[in-house]
Amino acid sequence: MSEDIIYIDSNTLENFMRDVFIGLGVPKEDASIIAEVLITSDLRGIDSHGIQRCKMYYDRIKEGIYEVKTKIDVIKDGPTTALLDGNCGMGHVIAYKAMQMAIEKAKKYGLGAVAVRNSTHFGIAGYYSLMAIKEGMIGMAVTNARPSIPPTFGCEPMLGTNPLTIGAPTDEEFPFLIDCATSIIQRGKVELNARVDKPLPENTVIDDEGKIMTDPNKVLEKMLERKASLLPLGGKGEDTAGYKGYGYATVVELLSAALQEGIYLRDTLGIVENGQKRLKVGHFFLAINTESFIGLNSFKKTATNIMRALRGSRKIPGESKIYTAGEKEHFVKIERKEKGIPLNKSLQNDIKIMQDELGLDEYSFPFS
Ligand SMILES: NC(=O)c1ccc[n+]([C@@H]2O[C@H](COP(=O)([O-])OP(=O)(O)OC[C@H]3O[C@@H](n4cnc5c(N)ncnc54)[C@H](O)[C@@H]3O)[C@@H](O)[C@H]2O)c1
Repeated sequence: MSEDIIYIDSNTLENFMRDVFIGLGVPKEDASIIAEVLITSDLRGIDSHGIQRCKMYYDRIKEGIYEVKTKIDVIKDGPTTALLDGNCGMGHVIAYKAMQMAIEKAKKYGLGAVAVRNSTHFGIAGYYSLMAIKEGMIGMAVTNARPSIPPTFGCEPMLGTNPLTIGAPTDEEFPFLIDCATSIIQRGKVELNARVDKPLPENTVIDDEGKIMTDPNKVLEKMLERKASLLPLGGKGEDTAGYKGYGYATVVELLSAALQEGIYLRDTLGIVENGQKRLKVGHFFLAINTESFIGLNSFKKTATNIMRALRGSRKIPGESKIYTAGEKEHFVKIERKEKGIPLNKSLQNDIKIMQDELGLDEYSFPFS
């Protein structure tokens, strides 16, 4: 399989994705934001949410599900809080501007919290936490998503894979950044496995009778019928505390829907408005200015000590390294900046389709 992989320089791929969105009518500045979020995912080794998602956005834009010209309404604006309506624009652009607003509020008043309704899929939640980290702040970003996680003891997908992302600056080359779904495996990883026909790990997905499933293609098919569910962090039932993941996924749903009178649970599967299908979600962003507490330098010093103590603690025999969240992605980024972004056959095919349909002849890929 590895002989099918082709590496493409990250700048070229970012430009290509930007031009795909411009070709679909997205304004240049917005297309650059979307491409930046997508390439950040690929560079950080999050293969599920970068170029792999580009064709999904492409198809949805062509179906009219997303508005290419993103219009954000400010519904409410206070010193430390805001409520925005994204009007079904491009989720990455809405999320970027919402976190920017949270950061500006935190610069002035110590905290910034922005809730968003009527947005769309925004890619990796961690990108928006990183925006706060770059300003010396703690950043949190959450979003709800299509129903995938069942409640504990249930077998109907109800909650999205609802990522809960929190990051903080350190004195090291890389910050702390926990950026993941509240399910054990998220839909993008199922798609990745399906593209290369690789079975899913045991105890990550159940069918509509609670039985374990491992065939990624079958899982995707059954998910469309709402007959497969992605288990929450902690897994099935109570023995390994699946109710903890279920609880955190519910927190994300609340922050993404209840504060903003937004879409939740089954409605995230799609609703029809004026004859047009919409796939809406909500988000919530928080920026905490460390200067309003102990100050950035002191915060970073303690944060760094915590990270180093964790990595320096006793290891299980046979294990060579303990990581802290955000570390692996930093080193993958260095490697991929050098080597390029790996594209499997299926992604090469997606790129070819978008390139041909939009006539992006200025790009010459080895497979085009
Ligand atoms: N927009 C959406 O609807 C949506 C939904 C779900 C997930 N996502 C995104 O998908 C991406 C991938 O999510 P995922 O659930 O597959 O993530 P994952 O399971 O790959 O976990 C990644 C996180 O775990 C950390 N990590 C990995 N190994 C570690 C180790 N040994 N020690 C310490 N930390 C370690 C990483 O640094 C990272 O923060 C995320 O960026 C998330 O935001 C988006």
